Amino acid sequence: MAKRADMALRRPGVRKGGVRRNPRKSPSGHQRLSEQPGVTRGSAVEEMVRVDHAGEYGAVRIYSGQLAVFERLPHKRKITASLLHMRDEEVEHLSKFNELIRERGVRPTVLTPFWHVAGFALGAATALMGEKAAHACTAAVEEVIDDHYRGQIEKLKDLGGEEAELAETIEKFRQEEVRHKEEALAEGAEQAVGYPLLSGVIRTGCKLAIRVAEKV
Ligand SMILES: [Fe+2]
Ligand SMILES: [Fe+2]
Repeated sequence: MAKRADMALRRPGVRKGGVRRNPRKSPSGHQRLSEQPGVTRGSAVEEMVRVDHAGEYGAVRIYSGQLAVFERLPHKRKITASLLHMRDEEVEHLSKFNELIRERGVRPTVLTPFWHVAGFALGAATALMGEKAAHACTAAVEEVIDDHYRGQIEKLKDLGGEEAELAETIEKFRQEEVRHKEEALAEGAEQAVGYPLLSGVIRTGCKLAIRVAEKV
């Protein structure tokens, strides 16, 4: 499993020097997806793929950080099994976005090395605070991702079927993220010490990470 996670974490579609493969040209005269001036349909969908790839990358690293703590503890088998299952699903999500950025010639975020370290650190730190804090981290992250994916699906629907397959993929992943959140809540995420603060800080961090990853 660790090997599979490592494979998925490799950056695809980028040649030495970060040059794009198959850059996708925007069709001329395309409609605006976003109301922001200068944001075209093509670039908006490209941003979606880039940010989702970064998010799934971060998710794999968060679960890996948590597992690095719990896998060493024999009395933490239950949470370890649950986190392994969640990470498996994140690895599948990441593999799909690896494929999408390759196919569409989307540049992955330049901050991948940062998410590599920050995701793992967030996972390990919350796991060291205890099981409930680890679940609080999952619930907070997945809540933001649920909202984020909902927003993207709405925008993709505006394109009238052109990106129906991408919308379906994101909807499938969204449902799995919601299941991760529900499982974390059922396991007592809200009973973590300092839950409102912990959850708030993580949610703010994730929202900020999304904004940054869309652009860089
Ligand atoms: Fe995911
Ligand atoms: Fe998830």
